[in-house]
Amino acid sequence: MRKLVAGNWKMNGTSADLAEVTALLATHPAPGCDMLFCPPATLVSRMSCLVRGTTLAVGAQDCHAATAGAHTGDISAAMLADAGASHVILGHSERRTDHGESDAGVRAKTIAAWRAGLIAMVCLGETGAERDAGETLSVVGRQLRDSVPEGATAANLVLAYEPVWAIGTGRTPTLAEIAEVHSFLRRELAARFAGATEIRLLYGGSVKPDNAAAIFALADVDGALVGGASLKAADFGAIVTALTTA
Ligand code: PGA
Repeated sequence: MRKLVAGNWKMNGTSADLAEVTALLATHPAPGCDMLFCPPATLVSRMSCLVRGTTLAVGAQDCHAATAGAHTGDISAAMLADAGASHVILGHSERRTDHGESDAGVRAKTIAAWRAGLIAMVCLGETGAERDAGETLSVVGRQLRDSVPEGATAANLVLAYEPVWAIGTGRTPTLAEIAEVHSFLRRELAARFAGATEIRLLYGGSVKPDNAAAIFALADVDGALVGGASLKAADFGAIVTALTTA
């Protein structure tokens, strides 16, 4: 399957940072994998115009579950699609923590994303305390069961395993730990969805140019969701290069 390197800019980036997009496309015009940037909502439209006709796709970082209505400050999936997004990150641990998002809420947003024709990038992962308690597989299994609705296919879902304790910390699980969770998620997907072998499973959490190749070489790792290292074209480009040579 064609792999995917996705960048999550989080609450970073103004119009000046669109220069990073131009720089990335200059160094990686034909990358051999899919590339995606998820900038803040304010940049989705402008970035979409900038990348038209290139190999870089644009996604958003969240959407509301409703189609429209009285939800001040929120953005619907259809609005994101209209702005040029093809993907939307849902259930990122920072949203689960900062905004109290539940598995049921993520599930409703996934349905909303599909209704608007967006590819849902559903995130799941255990906290450090849950890993220490030996609960990793039961936590991600529950998140997968309750966050991902029926009807998932390789064309409408990307799953990202992001251990909460690895996000933005510079710490990563061992390769064996990543492989264990990814093969577990693959089996769980296969038990529910036809064509599950083609659903992309990304690893996220402190992916950097110097650890990307080893992570990408693991079975059932179909790409990465990159936070901090996606903000600079040189770092993101190095990760893309690592993926295409892994
Ligand atoms: P990080 O973030 O690469 O900065 O650890 C990953 C993410 O939150 O998607």
